[in-house]
Amino acid sequence: MNKNIAVIRGDGIGPEIVNEALAVLDTVGDIYGHTFNYTDVDMGGCAIDKWGEPLPDEMLEKCKNSDSVLLGAVGGKKWDTVPGHMRPEKGLLKLRAGMGVYSNNRPAKIWPQLADASPLRPSIVEQGIDFIIVRELIGGIYFGEHKTTEVNGEKQANDDMCYSESEIERIGRIGFETARKRGKKLCSVEKSNVLDTSRLWKSVMHRLAEEYPDVELSDMLVDNCAMQIVKNPAQFDVIVTENMFGDILSDEASMITGSIGMIPSSSLGSSTCGLYEPIHGSAPDIAGMDIANPIGTILSAAMMLRFSFDMSAEADAIEKAVYDVLEQGYRTADIMPGDEARCKKVGCHEMGQLIIKSLRGTKQ
Ligand code: IPM
Ligand code: MG
Repeated sequence: MNKNIAVIRGDGIGPEIVNEALAVLDTVGDIYGHTFNYTDVDMGGCAIDKWGEPLPDEMLEKCKNSDSVLLGAVGGKKWDTVPGHMRPEKGLLKLRAGMGVYSNNRPAKIWPQLADASPLRPSIVEQGIDFIIVRELIGGIYFGEHKTTEVNGEKQANDDMCYSESEIERIGRIGFETARKRGKKLCSVEKSNVLDTSRLWKSVMHRLAEEYPDVELSDMLVDNCAMQIVKNPAQFDVIVTENMFGDILSDEASMITGSIGMIPSSSLGSSTCGLYEPIHGSAPDIAGMDIANPIGTILSAAMMLRFSFDMSAEADAIEKAVYDVLEQGYRTADIMPGDEARCKKVGCHEMGQLIIKSLRGTKQ
């Protein structure tokens, strides 16, 4: 197969981790007889420097015209003081909205080799951690009106949170469908004791539940959910929630699996053209040092193969290669245990190379 991938390296560690993922994709192409063509897209701080805005329209068009988009990370201190509408992150939001990718899927699964990298007690980890956060991605407070005005001689800031029934329904359906393919348990997370958007959210979820009698729906307030994720993560199968709650809970969920550097994500809308990115940020403090963990991006590329290109054997092969490399004891700094004798610390590039070597070995 021939696939066109728009590639956004972005800022900070973005270029390093994306380069490793592309090398893995090239290896998969080589082994399985596919051609992946890459089109570079500037987004984030680098686009602000080059084009004066975080995602020029032509760049968005390149993404929309591709078969899917692979993204590293955007942002950094250098652009922290630019006005809100010009921030690198605005480019990411424009991309998500422009591509219409309303459904963000973030798995929280513990790799057995990394159990001791989890900050949770072994007795909790042993119960298992394997759930997915389905996060609404192009609505809510991220996309409401943001304004700072002067009221009674002082500044006042406003961020509007708005959800329509149809926006809730389409992400709700993804939640139910996802649960249906897994453990058939869906937890809808909101703040219905305070927010109108959450009360609407809850009522739509309960209406949908009638169409999915095989899925067990439960409701949880977001503050309680934050607590339950560390207290008893084994209770969760699929969590469906709105944009900002999903942002916060997915960082928490990633941490209990050992490292945010391991977690990929997929974002899809109504077509197969998806956006694939690790959930971590651009980590400017370690940029260019060759110590970042490329696995979240490599697994994002695997998700692209699985969900957008219908290449599940290829995706399985990448995941197996990651598993094997971890099994052999190789670790980037973020997942290196205190007990160094058992494991070997490697850099970003070496980790990519090891995964490639393992991929080739698996296929021979
Ligand atoms: C994420 C990130 C983004 C978000 C930022 C960079 C805008 O934190 O993908 O989780 O909040 O969605
Ligand atoms: Mg986040």
